[in-house]
Amino acid sequence: MEGNGKPEGAMEIFGAQAHIYKHACNYVNSMVLATAIQLNIPDIIHTHGKPITIPNLVSALKLPPHKSNAIFRIMRLLTHNGFFEEEEEGYVLTASSRLLLKSEIQNLSPYARFMVDPVLLASWQVLGDWFSRNEESSSAFETAHGAPMWEICNTNSLFNNAFNEGMASDSQMMRLIVKDCGQVFEGVSTLVDVGGGTGMISKLILEAFPRLKCTVLDLPHVVAKQPECQNLGFLGGDMFHSIPSADAIMFRHVMHNWSDEDCVKLLKKGREAIIANKGKVIIDDMVLGAEKGNERDITEMKLIFDVLMMVLVTGRERTEKEFERLFIESGFTHYKIIPIFGLTSLIEVFP
Ligand SMILES: C[S@@+](CC[C@H](N)C(=O)[O-])C[C@H]1O[C@@H](n2cnc3c(N)ncnc32)[C@H](O)[C@@H]1O
Repeated sequence: MEGNGKPEGAMEIFGAQAHIYKHACNYVNSMVLATAIQLNIPDIIHTHGKPITIPNLVSALKLPPHKSNAIFRIMRLLTHNGFFEEEEEGYVLTASSRLLLKSEIQNLSPYARFMVDPVLLASWQVLGDWFSRNEESSSAFETAHGAPMWEICNTNSLFNNAFNEGMASDSQMMRLIVKDCGQVFEGVSTLVDVGGGTGMISKLILEAFPRLKCTVLDLPHVVAKQPECQNLGFLGGDMFHSIPSADAIMFRHVMHNWSDEDCVKLLKKGREAIIANKGKVIIDDMVLGAEKGNERDITEMKLIFDVLMMVLVTGRERTEKEFERLFIESGFTHYKIIPIFGLTSLIEVFP
């Protein structure tokens, strides 16, 4: 019986069962994808240059022939999920698996593998405990590891590298649109990329607008040993303590890592840094609710990221109204949202 007393048919109940199982087993999709990347399957198909059969794939993977059936089964699932297509002569790449090619500049493999890093996954095992325990841990990640994620990045170099490579691979996607952002960088001579990681987005901005001078500010262990060049400098420091002044301060995928209170602190620091130059703050983040009605996958992805931010750090995704409140509280007077492709929007915020 439903809550309203209407009896459900067996088909409907079996549909509900399939729905539960799909969500309960979703990790299989993530793990199979990460395994295909680990085995280099997209690159092998790419190098093959024509549709590949299972025996040819197994031989190119240098796997024992008795693994053929196992490879067929993961290829069948990945094909169903849109990562490959099966033609008469064998498997070919799709737009999604082309984005996983390690030989290409736009390569999201490090991102997809980072999402199933054992250090991250440990947070999910304790999420229920984190909810019920009345303790100080700011996130389930902290409950699992005894320290916030940024501290673990500092002490675990493997995890730090996986994180930074994952973020840099995501930033590469901006290559597709950065040259169309001329009006955002018009009149900007100096830019500080706050929490800019290993500087990928600054490098892309400089490729498109070479007259700019960029400084990447991030934690010392992230920027240590990053090669500098004429227009690109790296600064190790804590963005909550000091942000150097510039015409524009950029926070790309930074606000969503932090609570409202911390965002206001960061925005105030950003405002201080641009006020003398009559500059602006540029934010690149997801805006909840900015998608059109038919973009169900994008909405789901944003909601997933919102929970990810809660579990891994102390942040959240925000609606336009929620951003607006932060801007006003930090002393800004107006802002402009430029929706860009995919999941995020650029927000220009003016003092
Ligand atoms: C989600 S990553 C975004 C990286 C980069 N902006 C991008 O879009 O790929 C957040 C960055 O904030 C940096 N970060 C965290 N706490 C920081 C702090 N107190 N001061 C400076 N950077 C910090 C992290 O090291 C990390 O590189």
